[in-house]
Amino acid sequence: MNRVVEQYKRACNSLAGGVSSSTRVNQALGHAMLFDRADGCRLWDLDGREYIDLCCSHGATLLGHGDTRIREAVDRTLARGAACSYENELHAELAELLCETVPCLERVRLTGSGTEATMHCIRLARAFTGRTKLVRFEGNFHGYHDQVMWAAAGALGQLNPALAPISTGVTPGIDQHLIQIPYNRPDLLEQAFKQQGDEIAAVICEAVYYNAGCVLPTDEFVSAMRRLTTEHGSLLIFDEILSAFRMCAGGAQEHLGVTPDLCTIGKAVGGGYPISVFGGRAEIMRRLMPEGDCQHSGTYNGHPVSVAAAGAAIRAFREPGFYHGIDAISDRLYSGLRDLFQKHGVPGRIQGLGARFGIYFGIEHEIRDYADSKKHDREMMLRFIAAAISNGVYFHDYGGGAVHHGFCAAMQDADVDEALSRLDRAIATL
Ligand SMILES: Cc1ncc(COP(=O)(O)O)c(C=O)c1O
Repeated sequence: MNRVVEQYKRACNSLAGGVSSSTRVNQALGHAMLFDRADGCRLWDLDGREYIDLCCSHGATLLGHGDTRIREAVDRTLARGAACSYENELHAELAELLCETVPCLERVRLTGSGTEATMHCIRLARAFTGRTKLVRFEGNFHGYHDQVMWAAAGALGQLNPALAPISTGVTPGIDQHLIQIPYNRPDLLEQAFKQQGDEIAAVICEAVYYNAGCVLPTDEFVSAMRRLTTEHGSLLIFDEILSAFRMCAGGAQEHLGVTPDLCTIGKAVGGGYPISVFGGRAEIMRRLMPEGDCQHSGTYNGHPVSVAAAGAAIRAFREPGFYHGIDAISDRLYSGLRDLFQKHGVPGRIQGLGARFGIYFGIEHEIRDYADSKKHDREMMLRFIAAAISNGVYFHDYGGGAVHHGFCAAMQDADVDEALSRLDRAIATL
């Protein structure tokens, strides 16, 4: 037995399921991958095998592993004692950087995970509007709290279907405050607002829907969200936990040219350290205690090490040429993957924007919503990932529908070419 499997089995005896996060078991392998070290775009497992990383910590390590700018910022903070649960000047510096970089941000709050960010943002939207209903889109992922762990109980593609919890243990009845609508259906959104517009506190949306691989919103859909929420006194929340910094420094909202009232930001912002953000219009953010009456607090909120890492990460994203580099790598990688599919006669589609992408085996038309993405050939996907890992390219599959993959800015042309030649060998074995 190799060390990866041996240590995973050891963990199973004391760590529930052998992992700290349920989705960390790679479904293509049937166990978690255990990595010994990482550098740039590469990972080495506990047995010393090397991989080019096309998971990139589910999008958290956009700069690559062990980036020196992040490490130096972290080291400086550790040398100061990293006094947690207190503020220092880096908190204000980070807040200013965020407000200068992301269009909707006039005020921010720092929090731990993406789940906490969406939970607090939804609470704030309800506090500000005095309404309870939340519009969400089919398949969009917003974290693991009870307010958002719901999906259609029956057929997909319906306006306001009966919902069922995605997990056992979710508080029953929360779904009476949710209105679910298929993604990219401005007509159904309009209907929902006609029927219940004065009860809707907010619309929450993955503005670029990466959690189904990479699904782009149509212009009509984005402008309907902005127009209807404004007309009805509801708030528009872009959940940019995954999309922030992915294709430009201002995230999906800058890319789409639409400014929401509130947004959440996570993953890449911390440069590999745990921190998330929610924020938006100052008028709304003033409802948070101690100025207002809506609670958001936490012992580890704005941990100084993560705050220092986030400041360094955003400065790196704002460096001239950063997104030219991302675009050049994305062109090379995505067109290289398409060429490989063609060469091997594999039916499939790559959809990507910036540094993240989806692979849909068995589908050649554009994926426009969750129902479309669910039609991909999952069995083929799992075989592809297992073959890629055997050939030295790391992808992760956490189960469910289509998943997102991505690369980091440390990746150079030569790394892309090496990844493609390893994947050429992998696809040949399918
Ligand atoms: C769009 C979106 N929102 C929220 C979350 C939850 O973030 P976290 O895993 O940090 O709790 C995720 C995580 O993948 C996400 O992609």
